[in-house]
Amino acid sequence: MEDNDEGFTQEFEFDNGMNLIVKQRSSIKEGGGTIWDAAYVLIHFFMKHPKGLQDFMVLEPQKSYTMVELGSGTGIAGLAFAKLFPNSTHYLTEYSLSSLKLIDENIDLNKLNKDLVKSCTLEWGVEQAKQLKQDLKIGKENHKDIDIIIGSDIVYLAKQFDDLLQCILELGTQNHTRVIFGATEHGNYGLFQKKLEEYQDKIKITYVSLDYLDDQFMAEDIKVFIMDLI
Ligand SMILES: C[S@@+](CC[C@H](N)C(=O)[O-])C[C@H]1O[C@@H](n2cnc3c(N)ncnc32)[C@H](O)[C@@H]1O
Repeated sequence: MEDNDEGFTQEFEFDNGMNLIVKQRSSIKEGGGTIWDAAYVLIHFFMKHPKGLQDFMVLEPQKSYTMVELGSGTGIAGLAFAKLFPNSTHYLTEYSLSSLKLIDENIDLNKLNKDLVKSCTLEWGVEQAKQLKQDLKIGKENHKDIDIIIGSDIVYLAKQFDDLLQCILELGTQNHTRVIFGATEHGNYGLFQKKLEEYQDKIKITYVSLDYLDDQFMAEDIKVFIMDLI
């Protein structure tokens, strides 16, 4: 049923001249086939700082970074990041096979370099993160640190918070990896903030002020924040 759904595409044009085409398939379970609110905010935030998010972190568009997106869904946030950093390697991860197929279609639709932008299976967890690093030959053990981890609207199921945070800690490198999240403040968001307190000796969180977000694509209840692994 999910894979018989033809889906529909949406095209985004940004003030920096870039564009993005995203196919959605609403029949995919757990919302993994549609664009979530925080993704709109996050991609416009990325595009507003095309010279590399300098206000928050020094990233040079022409350099080669390794980026992993968690819970990519349609792949929208990872695709936007890939457009901004064309020489970097981008792994758009998901545990839904239907989402992974959709991500591949979206990589094609945007004519991105498939040697550099790839979909990969990843369910959040420590063992799964270790396997991903081994399969892709990335991470500190392989002398290829993951520089950036991104996630959009993946903070919602309280029972997954530990798996999600431990997955990030396993993938990342202390004092190196920077994590950029967009999250809608809903029922469980407060629980996530509480959970982060348990990780405060490992993760430092910085909220991006609304002033830095795109005027049209921001909302009081959608937070963009950076997590540094310390
Ligand atoms: C609310 S959707 C957000 C999708 C997309 N990031 C966006 O903002 O449009 C959450 C995504 O996380 C994925 N997901 C949920 N639990 C997961 C897990 N334990 N491991 C990996 N992916 C998961 C779902 O399949 C879904 O695509």
